[in-house]
Amino acid sequence: MSATTQYVRYRDDIEVIQPDEEHIIRQIVESMGRVNRKVYDRHRHAIRDAHAKSHGIVTGTLEVYDGLPAHLRQGVFAVPRRYPVIVRFSTAPGDIHSDSIPAPRGMAIKMLDVPGPKLLEGQETASTQDWLLVNHPTLPFGDIQRYLKLQAALEKHADDSETVLKIASSLAQGAHKALQAVGLDYPKGEILGAGFTHILGETFHSMAAVRYGEYIAKLSAAPLSANVRALTGQAIESDQHSALRDLVVAFFSGETAEYELRVQLCTDLERMPVEDASVKWPEEASPHQPVARLVLPPQDAYSAARQVYGDDILSFTPWHTVAAHRPLGSIMRVRKAAYERSSLYRHTMNQQPRIEPASLDEVPQ
Ligand code: HEM
Repeated sequence: MSATTQYVRYRDDIEVIQPDEEHIIRQIVESMGRVNRKVYDRHRHAIRDAHAKSHGIVTGTLEVYDGLPAHLRQGVFAVPRRYPVIVRFSTAPGDIHSDSIPAPRGMAIKMLDVPGPKLLEGQETASTQDWLLVNHPTLPFGDIQRYLKLQAALEKHADDSETVLKIASSLAQGAHKALQAVGLDYPKGEILGAGFTHILGETFHSMAAVRYGEYIAKLSAAPLSANVRALTGQAIESDQHSALRDLVVAFFSGETAEYELRVQLCTDLERMPVEDASVKWPEEASPHQPVARLVLPPQDAYSAARQVYGDDILSFTPWHTVAAHRPLGSIMRVRKAAYERSSLYRHTMNQQPRIEPASLDEVPQ
């Protein structure tokens, strides 16, 4: 797996615009906005359209490995160096539910000191770069047509929080019959997310593809240090509403977590498509190759100031990136407008500035 010739080279025409794409994207984004406004009205505080509940906001370092082979030395991983990072752990729903309700989990990474122009309008000169990962390798609603159906079901039941919760937990548990009952066609056996286990033991994935310099990749972050590896699959005893935050705070009160960042390069566009994020890229066709280590030292992971900074001031989006890691596929294209709208509404309603930090000194303790 080291010869560069077997990896598919990135070309602009690898992406295929879907029929009626602009209209479908508008429908998804407008529907998300309507649901988000209802959630705002309930809380009188604006929260993220997705991944609203945070469980820890931590700082640390991303260390790009020395001696990477040429095919892995791409984009922000081109040279061995350290980047300061901010990491936000979350669960997927766009509302604040008890942690005992199963839901996919997120790890958002913001790298600092990243040189070069960024893609998002208005943020070209920011020195940050985001990676958004979830604890599942694929997105079952992997293109905009299927995502619109999910979003329509969520909106239809937006005033009926029990059904919304049922949809969220059915997705997490792969309960395809329950999903069929609300009109969603869901692949049998697909489990999007974890049981009630420790969040720091999860492996997190980009689910969809990105440009990886000369190539195309999916990214993932897997537990590396023995202490977080020991948490993989570890059942949670607590029935507290914010059990995950409590576990994250307890862990970082004395321990360092290490994760390995890995890339899976596309070797075959038929078996490893970019336009359908529901297809798992087979590991036998291309393994996950380590590129960097994420080191998160002991700290107060959820002080009041941290929570406001992470939830109300910061924004993460896959489109906040250098061109070398441009997001790919229709599910990525809809995310451009969706994250922008969510963040704009949240920052406007909470009267908070949207800031791209220039230094970790800006992150409150
Ligand atoms: C490819 C699969 C996806 C992954 C891995 C992913 C991951 C994430 C993560 C980790 C966050 C939390 C970021 C944070 O901590 O601020 C997030 C937030 C969000 N996601 Fe996704 N997501 C995916 C697909 C989508 C899709 C298809 C949409 C919409 C069409 C979407 C809409 C959003 C929105 C609106 C937010 C909140 C943005 C904000 O207010 O700042 N995501 N996502």
